[in-house]
Amino acid sequence: MLQALQSNWLLAGGAALVLLLGLFHALTADPLFRRDARGAIRLVILGAALRGLQLALGSNIQGAWAKALEVGWMIVLSFGVIRSVVSLALKLVRSRERPAPKILRDVVDATLYVLAALVIVKHEFNLDLSSLVAGSAIASVVLGLALQDTLGNLFAGLSLQLERPFEVGDSVAVGTESGRVLQLGWRATRLETKRREVITLPNNQLAKQTVKNFSRGNEPVGVDVFISVSYEAPPNRVKQVVADTLGEVPLILASPSYRTRTWAYEDTSIKYRIRFYVADYSRANRVRDEVLTRLWYRLRREDIEIPAAPRTMHLLRPPKSAGLPLDARRSLLGLVDIFRVLRDEEREHLANAMVQRFFGAGERILEEGAAGQTFYVVASGTVAVTTRKGVEVTRLSRGQYFGEMSLLTGEPRSATVVAVEDSVLFELDRAGVGELFVGHPGLATQLSTLLAERRLQLQAVANANVPPSDHPEANRILARLRQIFGLS
Ligand code: CMP
Repeated sequence: MLQALQSNWLLAGGAALVLLLGLFHALTADPLFRRDARGAIRLVILGAALRGLQLALGSNIQGAWAKALEVGWMIVLSFGVIRSVVSLALKLVRSRERPAPKILRDVVDATLYVLAALVIVKHEFNLDLSSLVAGSAIASVVLGLALQDTLGNLFAGLSLQLERPFEVGDSVAVGTESGRVLQLGWRATRLETKRREVITLPNNQLAKQTVKNFSRGNEPVGVDVFISVSYEAPPNRVKQVVADTLGEVPLILASPSYRTRTWAYEDTSIKYRIRFYVADYSRANRVRDEVLTRLWYRLRREDIEIPAAPRTMHLLRPPKSAGLPLDARRSLLGLVDIFRVLRDEEREHLANAMVQRFFGAGERILEEGAAGQTFYVVASGTVAVTTRKGVEVTRLSRGQYFGEMSLLTGEPRSATVVAVEDSVLFELDRAGVGELFVGHPGLATQLSTLLAERRLQLQAVANANVPPSDHPEANRILARLRQIFGLS
């Protein structure tokens, strides 16, 4: 075989191999194969060049230099051939989605390189390798013992790569560590945690531990969150409130659907397990945060208590309308244009009647099309009025109000209102507004005009039209409002 290796047609064979690899390189998108092919092409060209040099120099080069050149081109060319054949073979055996693991390529390449180098050296220098092998037996044992850990890691790494419990880029948890797989190496696997630390886990330790992989090829991943709420709240109501809240969190998947389970009766509260699914586990903590944050606001608005530690259990809860002192609430009402006509005692009465509501950033306060009989004044924060398609009509902040359309006309909500930032609102119901009309009949006309203006602006945004200048809509609204509140 070596005779054949030395003959000139090897140059032609090398050229054919380079062409073949170049063709595969151009046809495939697999980056690992392309890198291997480039390496192999370089080795084959270098080997052929050395062989060409040897032929060109002929008998001009003698002794050790001639030998070195001969051994050199043989080794380089055989390495090139080995690398080409191994990468082509692995490419054919493994599918495109699952390219051959790098460690496997490296181990096969290295073994064949050593064998080829031994055969060439044995032939060129007429060495008896069996005596070399026998002589090195003791050294091998010593070396083997010294390399025990390294070899253990290597084989563990190899089995991990063949078995593939995870891939580079997957989110995994191993023991107490969790993060995204950065690199699968010969000796160790590297994870990057959320804190941006890089953790190096020796492969043999990894192979012995339970590995949780949260990235099963873009499959949804479940996340569990536990909450404890008061015994006063009926479980089915709690489940409904949780379901409504989860439905509004954008990163939670609709399918598989989220669900809440009554989990345990604890000393001071009932524990619920909430399970929902996300597409990308690396965002699980963000979603968990959003769920717990939104639930705080929502449960509070629904008067469902999240009991604090037992030692604070018997503290009296302040009345619902408290939060802002009465003076502050009165001066807030002073900012609201439609309430400027109120007398002091009326304003005070209204300040006491309003109920304080908290909304977290991103929470939906009103939904277009829903029924509604509540009216809100913004005490702090900002809310956005949007159309069903999510086009923003306007933003309202301190002293401005919304929700009056449905409350006054009995029609479904005309727009969706979302908290842009954490907002405190004061809520008034139909009875509260009805009382105001009794003392101030002019309010009805004022509100009808305002309603008509708002509605036309809303329609203009929805239809992307310029609003017309007169408001025939105002008369229609006024008639309806008079009918509902029995005004003359
Ligand atoms: P309602 O229809 O009860 O619920 C949605 C609310 O959005 C609506 O009452 C108004 O208060 C408010 N809204 C609708 N259109 C506008 C607008 N153009 N400007 C300000 N607020 C609006």
